[in-house]
Amino acid sequence: MSKLWGGRFTKKTDQLVEEYTASIMFDKELAEEDIQGSLAHVTMLGKQGILPAGDVEKIKDGLHRVLQRIKRDDIEFSIGDEDIHMNIEKTLIDDVGPVGGKLHTGRSRNDQVATDMHLWLRKRVVEFVDMLHKLQAALVEQAKANIDTIVPGYTHLQRAQPILFAHHLMAYVSMFGRDIERLQDSYKRINVLPLGAGALAGTTFPIDRHFVANQLKFDRVYENSLDAVSDRDFILEFLADASIIMMHLSRLSEELIMWSSTEFHFVELDDAFCTGSSIMPQKKNPDVPELVRGKTGRVYGNLAGLLTVLKSLPLAYNKDMQEDKEGMFDTVKTLQGALQLFAPMIATMKVNKDRMRQAVNQDFSNATDIADFLVNKGLPFRQAHEVIGKTVLYCIEQNKYLLDLTLEEFKQFSTLFDDRIYAVLQPEQVVNARNVYGGTAKSQVQDAIGRADAALAETAAWVAEYLERSR
Ligand code: ARG
Repeated sequence: MSKLWGGRFTKKTDQLVEEYTASIMFDKELAEEDIQGSLAHVTMLGKQGILPAGDVEKIKDGLHRVLQRIKRDDIEFSIGDEDIHMNIEKTLIDDVGPVGGKLHTGRSRNDQVATDMHLWLRKRVVEFVDMLHKLQAALVEQAKANIDTIVPGYTHLQRAQPILFAHHLMAYVSMFGRDIERLQDSYKRINVLPLGAGALAGTTFPIDRHFVANQLKFDRVYENSLDAVSDRDFILEFLADASIIMMHLSRLSEELIMWSSTEFHFVELDDAFCTGSSIMPQKKNPDVPELVRGKTGRVYGNLAGLLTVLKSLPLAYNKDMQEDKEGMFDTVKTLQGALQLFAPMIATMKVNKDRMRQAVNQDFSNATDIADFLVNKGLPFRQAHEVIGKTVLYCIEQNKYLLDLTLEEFKQFSTLFDDRIYAVLQPEQVVNARNVYGGTAKSQVQDAIGRADAALAETAAWVAEYLERSR
C-alpha cells in the first residue's frame, strides 16, 4: 500500500522502521478530536473559497461516516499508515475518492496533531475538576458527620494537640481546592488553537484561523506559528498538576493506611474497597490507597519523562515530540482510576469515634493549654513551658495523664495552678480554645464547611459551563 508521502521515495520503508516510527497503536485515542478538527478545517476551506462547496460537502459527509465507523470500532488501523491522522485521511480517501485528498490543503500534521491534543486534553481537564469536586463533596460530608469527633493532631507523627477530625478532613478539601484552581487556570493555556501554523511557518492559502478557533470553541489562536507547533507546555502543565494531585492523594492514602491499622484503628474502609490475603485469613488490606500511593511514582515519572524529551529540543517540530502522548494518556488513566475510587471510598469509610476519643484521653496533647493557663496568670511562656515539661515528666514516671493529677500534685510544679485547670484540660475546651480563623474550634470548622459548600456549588457551575464549552 503506498504512503501518503511516498512520492519522493524509491524504496519501501523498512518493516522495523515502520513499526518503530508508528504511533497509531496509541494515538488512535485522538480519533474523534482529529475528525472534529478536520471538520472545522474543511468548513473554513469552503468559506474562504479555497475548496468548492461541493468538495467540502463530500469531505464532510465522508468524515462523518468515518467517525461513525470509528465509534462502531469498524476500522482496522494500519501501522503502515503510521499515525491516526494518516489512517483517517486514508480511510476518508477510500470512502470519498480522490477529493478526500483535498482535506489536507493548507495544513500539516504538525499543527493537526497539536490541535488534536489541545481538544483532547481540555475535555480531560474539565472531567478531572468534576472528579475532584466529587471527592471534596465526600470529604465535606464526612466532616459534617464528624464535627464533634476529637482526634489527636500530630506533628512529627507524635501527638501534638487535639483537633476535630472534621478539621483534619477539611485540610484535604483545601488541598484539592488548590488542585481544582490549578486545572481551571490551565484551561486558558490549553484552549488555544495551533491550526493554521502549517508545518512551522504558516501557509500560502488564505485561511481564516479565527473562524476555525470559533468553530472549535477555542478562546484564542497561537500568536506564533513556530511556537504553535512546538509548544507542549500545556501537557507539561497538566502532568505537573496531575503530579501534585497524586501527591495529595498519596498523603491521604498514607493516613488512611495508618488509620486502618490495628495500632491506630481510627477508621475502617468499607469491605468493597479492600482485599484479602491468600494466606492469612484475618487480613483486610487497604490495597486501594496503597496502590494510589504506589502509582504516584509513574505520574511523577511521566512528568520527568516529557520534561526530558523537550529539554534542548530545537524549534520547530521534531519527531521526539511524538513521545508526548503515552505518558499523558497513562497519567490520565492513572488519575482517573484513583479519583474514581477515592470519592466512594471516603464516603463509605467508617470513623471509629470512640477509639479516637480514647486516644485523645490517653495523651499529653493538652499540655500546651496548661502552659497557656500559666501564661494567662502572668508567667512568661518560656518558664511555663519548662514547668509543664517537668509536670509531663512526672506524669510519665507516675504512669498518669495530666487530668489524673490532683491539685496538690500540680502545685508542686507551680503555685499558680488552681482548680480551673481541670476545665482547661478537657479536650472540647482545648479544641474550642483555638478560635481563630482557620483554627480547629468547632464554630471555625463549621464556618469552613459553610465556605466549602459555597465553593462546591461554584465548582459545579464551572463544570457544567466548561463541559459544554469543551465538547
Ligand atoms: N504522529 C506524529 C506525532 O504524534 C504526528 C506529527 C508528525 N509530523 C511529522 N512531520 N512527521 O508527533
